[in-house]
Amino acid sequence: MDLLAQLNGLPGELEERLRKVAGDADLEAARVDFLGRKGRLAELMSHLRDLSPAERPAFGQAANAVKQRMTELLDERKALQEQEREAAFLAGFDCSLPGRTLWNGSLHPITLAMEEVCSVFRSMGYEIAGGPEVETDFNCFEALNMPPEHPARDMQDTLYINDKVLLRAHTSCVQVRTMMNRRPPLAIIGPGKVYRRDSDVTHTPMFHQIEGLLVDRHVTMADLRGTLTAFLRAVFGGSTRVRFRPSFFPFTEPSVEVDMSCAQCGGRGHIDGQPCRVCKGSGWLEILGSGMVDPAVFRSVGYDPDEVSGFAFGLGVERIAMLKYGLTDLRMNFENDIRFLHQFPV
Ligand code: DAH
Repeated sequence: MDLLAQLNGLPGELEERLRKVAGDADLEAARVDFLGRKGRLAELMSHLRDLSPAERPAFGQAANAVKQRMTELLDERKALQEQEREAAFLAGFDCSLPGRTLWNGSLHPITLAMEEVCSVFRSMGYEIAGGPEVETDFNCFEALNMPPEHPARDMQDTLYINDKVLLRAHTSCVQVRTMMNRRPPLAIIGPGKVYRRDSDVTHTPMFHQIEGLLVDRHVTMADLRGTLTAFLRAVFGGSTRVRFRPSFFPFTEPSVEVDMSCAQCGGRGHIDGQPCRVCKGSGWLEILGSGMVDPAVFRSVGYDPDEVSGFAFGLGVERIAMLKYGLTDLRMNFENDIRFLHQFPV
């Protein structure tokens, strides 16, 4: 058979072959056999030089047409296989099955507690203030009336970056930062992470606090009492009772420890004749530290203690979250167990 007849016969042969292919690999093998570098078309083309110069152009043209036709045949077959695959998938697909529900995240209990506290204070006109977790010794201790060697530093031993830079041990540094940058009157609330060198069942090396500070003229202890009582009632309910016990903090004078009636037993100290586990039977819970800003603090930030007065407070967010949500183990907050986290609202 002459070359041209062989060439023109190729598409028919390919068509024959394609009728028998099954699957992608088979189809690819057919393509290689006919159009590959060593395939049937290439083989015939290698005889081009045996033709007379007069015959070559016609042969070349025919070869192009054959190549194009074979490519079409292969493409058609490929499309057909895809259609068949899809049809097989749809035949086995039950569109009446319930779909998968979307995964909804939820807010962490610490975040929820933090937002609740902040929103209560915002409603009383406080602004949110912030500061870095890596702080200077001055902002964290010295300006707060805790010079080096002050014994109160022991309770707040933290992690030092160097002699003068540390991970803040409380959010009270936010007081210093704010007062150094602004003039009174001011009312701020500073939520954030703090760090201490202890880790046991009831302490984690990182935890959250919220600091509060109000400075103006003629601020008194009565303002402090009223504000904190209103705050605790907003968060824990209107019948919450609040008591103030004398205490000591280097940066406040006088200082108080604030207790509230136990949210679990309603301040009775017992539930069904059993001592309440949350308040250990006392009916009271220690909830925050507070006091009137010490004149020494005002002086260290450049305020005149004869001109202004104010109160400050600091509270632990984990404690609020535990009481609010009835958590029994502090560590649950940091284990990232989805079964726990998923129980909180979005
Ligand atoms: N900074 C104190 C602590 O971490 C908490 C505190 C107590 C903050 C009394 C205050 C305050 O602003 O007035 O233990």
